[in-house]
Amino acid sequence: KHLFTQAYEGAVVATSYAEILLTQAIREHGEDTLVCYPDTAYKLPVITALSGEDVSTLKDLVPILNRIRMTKVRDELTLDGAKTNGEAAFYAAEIIEALRYLGGNNPHVEPWTGFLTDPVLRKFGIQLVDFTIPGVAVIIGKAPDSKTAAKLIKDLQSKGIMLMLCNEIIEQLLEENVKLGIDYIAFPLGNFTQAIHAVNFALRSGLAFGGIAPGNKTEQLQYQRNRVRAFVLALGEQDEVRIAAEFGAIMLGFPTITDQPLEEEVPDWYVYMPDYEKMAAFALELRGIKIKIVDIPVPITIGPAFEGEVIRKADAYVEFGGGKAPGFEYVKMVGPDDIEDGRITVVGPEIDDVEDGAILPIGIYIKIYGRKMQSDFEGVLERRVHYFINYGEGLWHVAQRDLCWLRISKDAKEKGFKFKDFGEILIAKYKSEFPAIVDRVEVTIYTEEALVNEKMEEAREAYRVRDERLGGLTDESVDEFYSCLLCQSFAPNHVCIVTPERVGLCGAVSWLDAKASFEITPTGPNQPLKKEGVVDEEKGIWRSLNEYVYTASNQSVEEVALYTLMELPMSSCGCFEAIMAIVPEANGLMITTREHSGMTPCGMTFSTLAGAVGGGVQSPGFMGIGKRYIISKKFIKADNGIGRIVWMPKDLKESLRGEMTKIAEEQGLGSDFVDKIADETIGTATEEILFFLEEKQHPAFTMDPLF
Ligand code: SF4
Ligand code: NI
Ligand code: NI
Repeated sequence: KHLFTQAYEGAVVATSYAEILLTQAIREHGEDTLVCYPDTAYKLPVITALSGEDVSTLKDLVPILNRIRMTKVRDELTLDGAKTNGEAAFYAAEIIEALRYLGGNNPHVEPWTGFLTDPVLRKFGIQLVDFTIPGVAVIIGKAPDSKTAAKLIKDLQSKGIMLMLCNEIIEQLLEENVKLGIDYIAFPLGNFTQAIHAVNFALRSGLAFGGIAPGNKTEQLQYQRNRVRAFVLALGEQDEVRIAAEFGAIMLGFPTITDQPLEEEVPDWYVYMPDYEKMAAFALELRGIKIKIVDIPVPITIGPAFEGEVIRKADAYVEFGGGKAPGFEYVKMVGPDDIEDGRITVVGPEIDDVEDGAILPIGIYIKIYGRKMQSDFEGVLERRVHYFINYGEGLWHVAQRDLCWLRISKDAKEKGFKFKDFGEILIAKYKSEFPAIVDRVEVTIYTEEALVNEKMEEAREAYRVRDERLGGLTDESVDEFYSCLLCQSFAPNHVCIVTPERVGLCGAVSWLDAKASFEITPTGPNQPLKKEGVVDEEKGIWRSLNEYVYTASNQSVEEVALYTLMELPMSSCGCFEAIMAIVPEANGLMITTREHSGMTPCGMTFSTLAGAVGGGVQSPGFMGIGKRYIISKKFIKADNGIGRIVWMPKDLKESLRGEMTKIAEEQGLGSDFVDKIADETIGTATEEILFFLEEKQHPAFTMDPLF
């Protein structure tokens, strides 16, 4: 049968099935039963994005499903007809899935994820916008055997692709011990209609980052086609419903590649590729995803999929540093004659010289020479050690500098990983990611204790000098701030202004990072912005910045104030680490984080708040921020600074306690200020926290009214 015929039949089956289940659910639970997914601000995202109906209870779904059956299930055997049928299948699948979550039920068992929440979406925001994750593969069905499945996945993971998996392939991968889950950027969604969670994830990126209004289907489709680089791999035998859904994906601009012979291909959109060796490369090409391939001569796979991989002590062959043995990592800028490019030296025992379970000292000493290198970039490059090493499968790295802590898994050792391979990874990565500032790299790995200690002294002295210089970097001490437009690949109107005392709201781009990135790519997303024409020093408004922001935001933001929440605050894209919001009753503000899924005193969870502030718009009283901005001296300076904070999650409070206390003392708020801030253990209802704040005599009460 022709694909178009199958898509039509699939739409009929899917919508009929949805109707049966919906009728049943209404009979069983009553039509006023609430229907929603967990932890999202976008209700049922497929419906929100494509037609914009506000669904809250089961009865709201009835007219929607009827309309879809009447208008979208069409016996029209063309590509357009098939896409319309695909859209119908999307609605049907979204309804069927949502019904599984009735009454706060969470139908999923680990490792299956089911619905992916908003915090998961935002977690991968920056990696998607800077193309660390260059694309998304939705894989549905079953490979010929589990080995082939695992190989395909490895291939995609080594290219950094995000994976959404559905049906039998999940079991095949589990059988091969392929690691799956959020930490591996490989989401085993579930079976059958659970594939819709890939779709509602994609559509939410348009709503959350693109700021596209609910129901604006035209813009949403444009956004998906241009910015969400996804494709579908349809493996093994297919049924009509699946084929219909694949045409829904095609409507979004995501082509389908199948390993099954077709009666007729739809050129560029629905094509046959039986060769599993070539499938990944073929799919990337079809979707126009370009990846710079860096071949690193190490026996393990390298890719962002392994960044979140945890290696427990029991699985480690060797462990370094972490307080159990000395350890440091240090990037040093050197002259052209003080370096032998590409050289890797291991001084001390290699992996084969040590027993399973060994704890060793380590010094990772990296020399870099570059004509455009600056000593300011040493720290920027050094922090990359963490990511580069973590990208290795079987390698684990935490912290930095002389606090670093590393593990190599038994598995990696088995595959032949050597200590010198740390050098291979670092050299290859520095050269490929920083070609403009890095010309030569040499790595020495010290594993002999006396030498580690000796070299560590040198590194510590360098850290100290660096910190002194950084501490002196204030907004006043520089002539230029930097813009960051990186998120425009997802949030087309969003502009971050990054200053020495205000990190980008993603937390990942500091002023020095932006400066280095400008040196690397002068026409890239970070541009120097001269501070000219002070409009309001207190609030942080400059004419030159306003002019830049106006143009760069596509005329959507006219003015921006850097140091206040209440007036012209910076816009938010979607990948903020934390969000602040005013608490009028307390004359202060609260902050919540992506990690904190609970309720907050403004009556909204992180997800709901995020839905209200994202998409590149300014919303006075609300703002997305990087966590480190909280401990900046410029933190909403014009609104009295950290003394305004009345509530924050306990975890955040504890992680910033030391630095906040220091600032509080400097600002005359007292050394016990942090203890005057309420958290979820005090309460989330306004009355509860007000009582606490009054009892503690929180300073916000005595400040000028916020508005
Ligand atoms: Fe996105 Fe702003 Fe971070 Fe740049 S600094 S990556 S624009 S959030
Ligand atoms: Ni790793
Ligand atoms: Ni962003």
